[in-house]
Amino acid sequence: MKLNAMITEAELEKLSWPDAPQMKTQAVPGPLARQALERSARRESLARGGGGFPMVFDQGYGVTVKDPDGNLYIDLSAGVGVNSVGRCHPAVVQAIQAQSHHLMHASDITNSKRIELAAKIAEIMPEGLRDNCVTYFTQSGSDAVEAAVKFAKRVTGRQQILAFHGAYHGIWNASNALTTGNQYRSGYGPFMGGVIHAPYPYAYRFPFDTSARSAEQIAGEYVDYLLNSRYTGADDVGAVIVEPVQGEGGYVAPGPEFLRLLRKACDRAGALLIADEVQAGAGRTGKMWSIEHSGVKPDLLTFGKGMGGDLPMAGVAMRADLAKHIPPGSQPGTFAANALSAAVCLANIELLTDPKLALIERAHLLGLETLERVRAADCPLIGEARGRGLMIGIELVEDRESKAPLAPEKVGQVVMDSLQIGIIMVPCGRNGNVLRLMPSLTIPRRYLFGALDRVLTILAEV
Ligand SMILES: Cc1ncc(COP(=O)(O)O)c(C=O)c1O
Repeated sequence: MKLNAMITEAELEKLSWPDAPQMKTQAVPGPLARQALERSARRESLARGGGGFPMVFDQGYGVTVKDPDGNLYIDLSAGVGVNSVGRCHPAVVQAIQAQSHHLMHASDITNSKRIELAAKIAEIMPEGLRDNCVTYFTQSGSDAVEAAVKFAKRVTGRQQILAFHGAYHGIWNASNALTTGNQYRSGYGPFMGGVIHAPYPYAYRFPFDTSARSAEQIAGEYVDYLLNSRYTGADDVGAVIVEPVQGEGGYVAPGPEFLRLLRKACDRAGALLIADEVQAGAGRTGKMWSIEHSGVKPDLLTFGKGMGGDLPMAGVAMRADLAKHIPPGSQPGTFAANALSAAVCLANIELLTDPKLALIERAHLLGLETLERVRAADCPLIGEARGRGLMIGIELVEDRESKAPLAPEKVGQVVMDSLQIGIIMVPCGRNGNVLRLMPSLTIPRRYLFGALDRVLTILAEV
């Protein structure tokens, strides 16, 4: 398939620094980065994500970043899925410049940019919400999930929420209760009660036999059984929250049947379906929203990361008829939809939906080609390569037969060896053994496949 875009590779290359990667110091971190990390460790909480990652971002442009020593990297993580259009895109910088002379903070009293953004979001939502939603704005994905859960409870008058094993929905009270990774939970509870977890159709490591029926079928039918039986304890479920492509849980992209079964189960039980699109949304999977690959209509949709890009922006879009049940003024947020962030979000959406750039189609095609190349590499450490669009996971194993997850120190070695040659990757997965390729949708082919080749070489040497 050929990409239907008018932007050329040469033009895309101008949206990043040339000749990356390029290392100036013998090793990373170099002397200046090391000093900065020491200062960080003294005064910045290491509870932050990437607490042990030995790198400091100093400058960024497109898919390239520099550390304080001037080392130039290719970022295959796009700021953990945030910089869908690359860092400091000229159109984004221009939007910031224009808006910063006009209005930035307006408190939760609304503002012109935020009104424009809410209208635009309604236009780009998946079917079911398209032109039929209102948006509640927040700053982070965790906040958006907190809000979605509260709204679902308020609208349905029910208190339980169903989520999935391997889910990551955030770090606060409700969002952390829905998240299953021990590293985010241990010692921090108790979280919001009333959460039920069900298996996600992670076919590669599914706990049940899939020889007769697919993981999607089993997982979907299990939710129907939970929600619609009388002896499962799920008597008061207001919503099912699902990542249509699971992110932190290992870049797992189930087939459409799973979401279709969830929709049916929710309808039968009178529960709402919340699509958490914080990581998979904003065009990353080859559609604006990852739920669109299934044709399923969500009742609420949470967004963040790639919608904000260089400035924080997140929120929850909910069906307009549901929103009528939320009392006005009941959920204020001081910084919600800052006008500057709203202007940046609008600029991002314009870039993502510009047919001349065709960035979303590009994500789809580049994703297919990347998967093909990874699979062709036939490296024994690669248990599975999977994903959708530019949301690709490479699951590393000790050997393909046992599927034992590659030991954390070996995964760490791959990530650190890549960093030493100027390639930034952030692993994920329930065992921390999934390399994720989630670059900006603007990544030039030369950078993507050049970096991939180097990572595959490193893998072959482990
Ligand atoms: C699916 C999903 N939901 C929610 C969140 C939380 O977003 P944030 O880190 O902006 O709070 C994340 C972050 O990785 C996510 O991937």
